[in-house]
Amino acid sequence: MKFKSKKRQFLEIRQKEKHGTCRAIMVKINFQDKFSKFSEHWTPKVIAEMNDYQFKLVKIEGEFVWHNHDDTDEVFIVIEGKMFIEFEHETIELNQGEMYVVPKGVQHKPYAEQECKVMLVEPKGVVNTGEASGDLTAQNDVWI
Ligand code: NI
Repeated sequence: MKFKSKKRQFLEIRQKEKHGTCRAIMVKINFQDKFSKFSEHWTPKVIAEMNDYQFKLVKIEGEFVWHNHDDTDEVFIVIEGKMFIEFEHETIELNQGEMYVVPKGVQHKPYAEQECKVMLVEPKGVVNTGEASGDLTAQNDVWI
């Protein structure tokens, strides 16, 4: 059995109160390990929080819907694969190791020809489909 310090135990209890599950923090997070825990597309999973921001992993394939986020910018970081973000007047290609900040209020449509693994950084409570709802709207605050 691993030794748990008082501080670590305290933090786990605090996390339990916050999220309803006991989440070990103060441990490193491995992206590929987290990606191995789910297979569905377009359903962002929370892996960490920093202040009021969340880090989410998502697997994408095919086309998303046109949408925008009225209140926040949205960060896409490609961990593995290739994706595109279509805007009104241009389409940008993002490869592994590249990131893009979509400004708030700007209409965008992400898509990927083959499965692409992406990290999103955005404030807590952001809905993936933004102002457009529909079949692709994912549940928020799903931790893995
Ligand atoms: Ni978006």
